[in-house]
Amino acid sequence: MKNDGRNIVITGISRGCGRALAEHYLAQGHRVAGCARTQEIVEELRAEHGPLHHFAAVDVADDEAVRVWTCDVLAHFGAPDLLVNNAAVIAENAPLWEIPVYEFDDVIDVNIKGTAHVLRHFLPAMIHRGSGVVVNVSSGWGRSTSPEVAAYCASKWAIEGMTQALAQELPRGLAAVALNPGVINTEMLQRCFGKEGAAQYPSAQQWAEAAGPYLLKLGPKDNGKALTVPGIPVD
Ligand SMILES: NC(=O)c1ccc[n+]([C@@H]2O[C@H](COP(=O)([O-])OP(=O)(O)OC[C@H]3O[C@@H](n4cnc5c(N)ncnc54)[C@H](OP(=O)(O)O)[C@@H]3O)[C@@H](O)[C@H]2O)c1
Repeated sequence: MKNDGRNIVITGISRGCGRALAEHYLAQGHRVAGCARTQEIVEELRAEHGPLHHFAAVDVADDEAVRVWTCDVLAHFGAPDLLVNNAAVIAENAPLWEIPVYEFDDVIDVNIKGTAHVLRHFLPAMIHRGSGVVVNVSSGWGRSTSPEVAAYCASKWAIEGMTQALAQELPRGLAAVALNPGVINTEMLQRCFGKEGAAQYPSAQQWAEAAGPYLLKLGPKDNGKALTVPGIPVD
């Protein structure tokens, strides 16, 4: 360990911001647990980083799977110091009335209910210990809107509201914040901006260099804040 080795849990670690943030913290010597649905990538991460860390193939939209995963993580290294609810999906660009039911449902199930499932199972241990920071990843589209992304906007505005209410419920010593990560060139951005449009934005690795240290400085004084990662473009 090169530092005080925090316990960090991140959802959505198979690619994009979640993967880059996990790798940033692993390189800094922190203990990282994470999940994503793609089994092969989870296995690669396990093989590469060894048993000190904990990677699992879990769909955050499945409350029972999240419960089992949470028990494993808590048994492995205790309550997280930092819990980043990063996993999310976006529907194909379309006006609201043309978004297929299954795509709308997926956005709500993963982005809102998935975040709630993770919180439901991790928070009791964090509350019992009396410390820890929850970062619920929101979006510029959690604070503003654009056409063709209504389901995603609905889900991220929900994240902002859910986080504010949670912050009012948490006991002293803990914090919950909503985080606009900025605009980052990931598969999700390419899906709505196209490859060329997305290419002008920072990479997930550049984002993690900015977000990683920023998130580790958060504490009880930040409870309830709607934050934005400094140094990353927001539109
Ligand atoms: N990129 C941007 O410009 C931008 C802007 C604003 C906000 N955000 C937010 O930032 C976060 C990261 O986005 P990103 O751009 O890195 O997206 P991304 O490249 O699409 O990565 C999303 C990650 O979430 C995982 N995931 C999706 N559904 C999941 C589920 N049901 N259970 C578990 N894991 C799941 C994916 O893994 P599997 O597919 O393997 O499950 C993947 O690892 C998201 O909350 C997003 O809304 C991004």
